[in-house]
Amino acid sequence: MSEYSVRNLCSDDFVAIMGLERRIFGDEPPGVLGPYYVRLCCDVYAPTCFVALHGDEPVGYLLCFTRGREAHCTTLAVVPEHQGSRAVALLLRGFVRAIVDEVDACWFTVSPDNAAARALHATLGAREVASVLDYYGPGDRRILSCIDAARFDALRSRYQRLGLVGPRAVEHTPTTQGIDQIMGHLGAAS
Ligand SMILES: CC(C)(COP(=O)(O)OP(=O)(O)OC[C@H]1O[C@@H](n2cnc3c(N)ncnc32)[C@H](O)[C@@H]1OP(=O)(O)O)[C@@H](O)C(=O)NCCC(=O)NCCS
Repeated sequence: MSEYSVRNLCSDDFVAIMGLERRIFGDEPPGVLGPYYVRLCCDVYAPTCFVALHGDEPVGYLLCFTRGREAHCTTLAVVPEHQGSRAVALLLRGFVRAIVDEVDACWFTVSPDNAAARALHATLGAREVASVLDYYGPGDRRILSCIDAARFDALRSRYQRLGLVGPRAVEHTPTTQGIDQIMGHLGAAS
């Protein structure tokens, strides 16, 4: 029986990720990611980008980049035939392990009608902090959600209890940066 596995993206994954984009997002606005960004994910942001495999077949992916102590998770997607499987949990596990000691906040954007993605973000501790109109074009509304520093700390503790990350290598000084400051920094509108 084929098993699920997750690994970081690499340059050779470009064609596969573009193919998954078309399969999963091709029929709905705002459409698929541009090849330039996907190429960056494969070549530059690979340490925080993951592909889920079923056997050797790519079936899902998570794309994220970091800016300073913030992570921006731009896509989490699994092909319909493999939704409800371990793929999504393994993607999230790889992702959290990669960023948990590197950032103090993580941002997601999601369509208001995407109940599954909103539920997943909530399980990580993300709080919905803004609803922005015209985000990807006229009439397009997106919810911005954020795991802030305190919730990130709680997420790290949960992962440590589960044995998914070790104790911190160095003492952590929690950031005082709150969501309001981050929102101002992003220029997000409620
Ligand atoms: C978002 C996505 C990755 C979730 O993966 P999935 O394999 O469907 O996730 P699961 O079925 O394991 O569900 C994850 C959680 O969301 C919950 N959930 C799923 N569908 C839901 C729904 N319609 N309403 C509320 N919660 C829902 C599940 O209960 C589950 O929580 P649990 O494990 O505590 O039961 C997948 O649906 C997907 O690829 N969608 C298309 C792409 C997309 O829209 N991505 C998000 C924006 S980038």
